[in-house]
Amino acid sequence: MTNTLPRKTPLIVSALRGEKTDRIPLWLMRQAGRYLPEYRALRAQAGGFLAMAYNPAHASEITLQPIHRYGLDAAIIFSDILVIPHALGQDLRFEAGEGPRLGALDIDALQAGGIDRTLNAVYQALEQTREKLDAENFGETGLIGFCGAPWTVACYMIEGHGSPDFAKARNFAKDHTDQFAALMDILHAASLHYLLRQADSGAQALQIFDSWAGLAGEAEFDRWIIAPTQKLVRALKATRPDVPVIGFPRGVSLDRLRRYAQETGIDGLGCDYIHDPAALASLQGDVCVQGNLDPALLLEGGAAMDKAAMTILDALAGGPFIFNLGHGVIKETPPEHVARLVKLVQEYRA
Ligand code: CP3
Repeated sequence: MTNTLPRKTPLIVSALRGEKTDRIPLWLMRQAGRYLPEYRALRAQAGGFLAMAYNPAHASEITLQPIHRYGLDAAIIFSDILVIPHALGQDLRFEAGEGPRLGALDIDALQAGGIDRTLNAVYQALEQTREKLDAENFGETGLIGFCGAPWTVACYMIEGHGSPDFAKARNFAKDHTDQFAALMDILHAASLHYLLRQADSGAQALQIFDSWAGLAGEAEFDRWIIAPTQKLVRALKATRPDVPVIGFPRGVSLDRLRRYAQETGIDGLGCDYIHDPAALASLQGDVCVQGNLDPALLLEGGAAMDKAAMTILDALAGGPFIFNLGHGVIKETPPEHVARLVKLVQEYRA
């Protein structure tokens, strides 16, 4: 069931359209997860991460946990970038404390046609979450859908697990370029379909996580990061021009951030904490900047966190801006530090 009542445009959507907002909207990457006791309690009862992600009621409840606690300006649907390889037929497991483990990859055997059998749970979770947000008077809270960028997802599919350098995956792209390109095409089609269906299910903005963009060399960056992201954004805009897209190419230089912003057509640019916020202000003529507090400072809290957050706000509040971290919340982060940060940003006036 979709809600037909008119609802207000979420602050994050206004900011992504380049509009000035009365206050700076904020959400945090990995705002749901193991640092929250209510998440850990549900996880213990539900039997693990994937079981929760594929249970619409659980996924929706977890998505709303940080909204209930802090009243953030956006909820991001509780899922993972690796549900796409899983839906395509690659085995996927999450071992406690070990991170993701993917099964052997056979590119020719991937099944692009049947992905919704696995992904329907995500669409249902989005629908339930949007309904609950409206029913609970969070009508102005945005709902974000997401996927991994083809490059980052291909890196995990080839490597089979996390890695500091994804050397096997990057060598595969170099030595078996045709096969890598075929994999990237499959990921394009699956990601496009997945994002469109998320928009149809209630997602009001879409984020493309390119967590391993920083590993690419110059030629790889153009061919495997800029070009596929541009292709995805163009295809999304062709049918859903009103749904803004945020790109997050983690770990890249300011020069590459600028090129990515200008060439891909994204509306919002997720920025890593490696950048000086004053330098990021120079990108606000092209896009809405999103970022970029160091998650280690959120972990630490106190005066150091306050000072860094104020520096970011002072540098970026003048242009289109969404406050966020430069990467995800670290699992040891005390929830009170998040509450403090939310208060600081919500009370800030330029
Ligand atoms: O941000 C949110 O609150 C929404 C949910 C979300 C998760 N993963 C939940 C999750 C999102 C947006 C992601 C994206 C994701 N997943 C990325 C891109 C962002 C980034 O961090 O760079 C990547 C690279 C992954 C792959 C992944 N998933 C890894 C490497 C791990 C293990 C490391 C870890 O943090 O545990 C996961 C597991 C995962 N995804 C958890 C959560 C809450 C932890 C699962 C658990 O043990 O309960």
